[in-house]
Amino acid sequence: MTKPFIQELLNEMTLEEKLAQLTQLGPYYWGLDDTVDLTGPFKELNIKPHIMENIGSVLNGTGARNVIELQTRHLQTSRQKIPLLFMADVIHGYRTILPIPLAMGSSFDLEACERFAEIAAKESAAAGIHVTFSPMTDLVRDPRWGRVMETSGEDPYLNARVTESMVRGYQGKDLKEKGRIAACVKHFAGYGAPEGGREYNTVDVSSGVLREFYLPAYKAAVDAGVAMVMTAFNTVDRIPATGNEQLLRGILREEWGFNGVTIADFNSVNELIPHGAASDGSEAAEKSLTAGVDIEMMSTHYLNHGSDLVEQGKLNVALIDEAVIRVLELKDALGLFENPFKDADPLVDEAAEPCAEHTQAARELGASSVVLLKNENEALPLKKGMKIGLAGPFATSVHVLGGWAGVEKDTAVSLYKGISQKTSAEDILTAMTGELGSMLEGIFDVEDEVEEAFNRLKDCDVILAAVGENQQDTGEGGSKSNLRLSANQEKLIWRLKDTGKKVITIVFSGRPLELKPILEASDALLQAWFLGTESGNSLADVLFGDYNPSGRLSMSFPYTVGQIPVYYNAFQTGRPYDPQYPQVRYVTRYLDCPNDPLFCFGYGLSYSDFAYSGFAVEEGERIHASISVENTSDCTGKETVQLYIRDVSASVVRPVKEMKGFRQLSLAAHEKQVVSFEITKDMLMFYGKDDQLIFEPGEFDIMIGRNSDDLFTERIWIG
Ligand code: GLC
Repeated sequence: MTKPFIQELLNEMTLEEKLAQLTQLGPYYWGLDDTVDLTGPFKELNIKPHIMENIGSVLNGTGARNVIELQTRHLQTSRQKIPLLFMADVIHGYRTILPIPLAMGSSFDLEACERFAEIAAKESAAAGIHVTFSPMTDLVRDPRWGRVMETSGEDPYLNARVTESMVRGYQGKDLKEKGRIAACVKHFAGYGAPEGGREYNTVDVSSGVLREFYLPAYKAAVDAGVAMVMTAFNTVDRIPATGNEQLLRGILREEWGFNGVTIADFNSVNELIPHGAASDGSEAAEKSLTAGVDIEMMSTHYLNHGSDLVEQGKLNVALIDEAVIRVLELKDALGLFENPFKDADPLVDEAAEPCAEHTQAARELGASSVVLLKNENEALPLKKGMKIGLAGPFATSVHVLGGWAGVEKDTAVSLYKGISQKTSAEDILTAMTGELGSMLEGIFDVEDEVEEAFNRLKDCDVILAAVGENQQDTGEGGSKSNLRLSANQEKLIWRLKDTGKKVITIVFSGRPLELKPILEASDALLQAWFLGTESGNSLADVLFGDYNPSGRLSMSFPYTVGQIPVYYNAFQTGRPYDPQYPQVRYVTRYLDCPNDPLFCFGYGLSYSDFAYSGFAVEEGERIHASISVENTSDCTGKETVQLYIRDVSASVVRPVKEMKGFRQLSLAAHEKQVVSFEITKDMLMFYGKDDQLIFEPGEFDIMIGRNSDDLFTERIWIG
């Protein structure tokens, strides 16, 4: 039910004012910020001043002082005194930069994900932000795509749980509450499946696969009460998402009951034209408004053509009215009509020192996201007093915040600095620490100082190789066709192995890289992602055993880029490969590479050892699967016990396994716990031939284990 004051506001608005309310521009267009640091293609829009007075929202206008100034100016000129909505890309923290979301997915810690969002919300709110364009929950299977860093990975169940946790963390129970901001889930829908992993490339998945894999996490956001949904750049079944009525009104609003605001991604209304789905701006505006896009971001076809479309009878003004009402209702839910500045606070926003509580939280979130992929010859944990060699472009680098790390007020803690907090500086020797430039600058390798590094470090007790990719080569516009470390980084690792000392390779990346070429040369291998402000401290905590690594991969790591897409929840095919018969030709296989990834979804090691026993499935009115897990080591550790199921045969083919639950156990030395999962029919439902959610009786494999490849399994009939 629309509040009377909102209805009255709408009734008094001219059509042009309504269309301006549905338009979002960057601060540049108010003359506020001449550094047009945009997140998309820039163009002059030649907007008349009286229109600017009625624009509804601001893209990436941040900073308490800026927001207060712009909001004040706006309210002085806005005829109806409707406050501006300030929206920004707070993807993994605002001032305290937190681990990239792909790392947070690997923490498998939902409380941590909620905490992550709460911290980002508090800092963003103080900076005057009302809406964050997060969580990004596009399911991903192709690490060539730079934006895998922004999502929680390849699994619908994990993505859904992480997404709803973040929505809760951002929004709380009441948007008016201090330190809360509205969340905007994106990019609806299927943006994570570009062909070839090439940014903005064609997405073409069947409706069944879209529903089974790509939609669940967006729906989890809607069910968690997300305030806003952003439409994707790509087509969905050959119609751009930003003009796709079946997607936006059919699924999002009618099927799922979403009644919040929808916003087009940057310029994507206009991009219906190059897509070939609209002949001009007028048709683009007509299609997007008809499809259900409320706010047009960084293009002005609503403004330029909306009135004519109504006059020509091509567009029902009621569609514009309902969109304006949703925008006004969001402003009201945030309390902006009472307090248009909400939590903007220059004192907090411009504090000399970052918030100590948030800094500590960032350190813990980082440590829990690191994934230990290999640890042989007791290479880790390090011991204080060891002579430590440290080499590679990320040895002393502070450029480890990760992509989309907006404000960068405080430089990150480097790996060197983190280690030097643990052991005396004279015990640390560095070499070949020159940083890796960005491919955008045409830099594809580091200087070859390998021999110097070998000679300088060969007498150390242990050697750390800090390698990876430049953070600017990840995120939007960061697609790559090659995922190996650069030649000189690989050469460094192999030469360091010649020292005969243990080599610990630490990989800084925003995606799964191709690590097979350096795996044998590494006694230990740590996936460090980009962990944000506290990166070096988080890593040092793990390296010295002050935090026992508990991360589990949220995305498969391929043997080679030629294997992509490789993901755990695949269909079996009609000619499955049987590893018992490796010489058989006519099965699904490569001649030169395994089908399985190098490291699978859910994989990760610990300094503890965990023994699984007593797997049992009890059938009856309710079905339970249980297993006993014992920490057989002398140090407390965290284990993520994972539940998967397989529907063996159905009216449509089903994945060989699907995650349906996980439980993170913290087990003291030699402690044993029994974990039990209830298997409900809801878990077993799927989208049948006609895209309806159904259950079909049949045989099911119930599986529990430590990762998607190491599972106990039992087949049962469920009627
Ligand atoms: C960008 C991104 C989107 C972001 C938006 C606003 O192009 O695709 O994720 O939120 O523009 O910056």
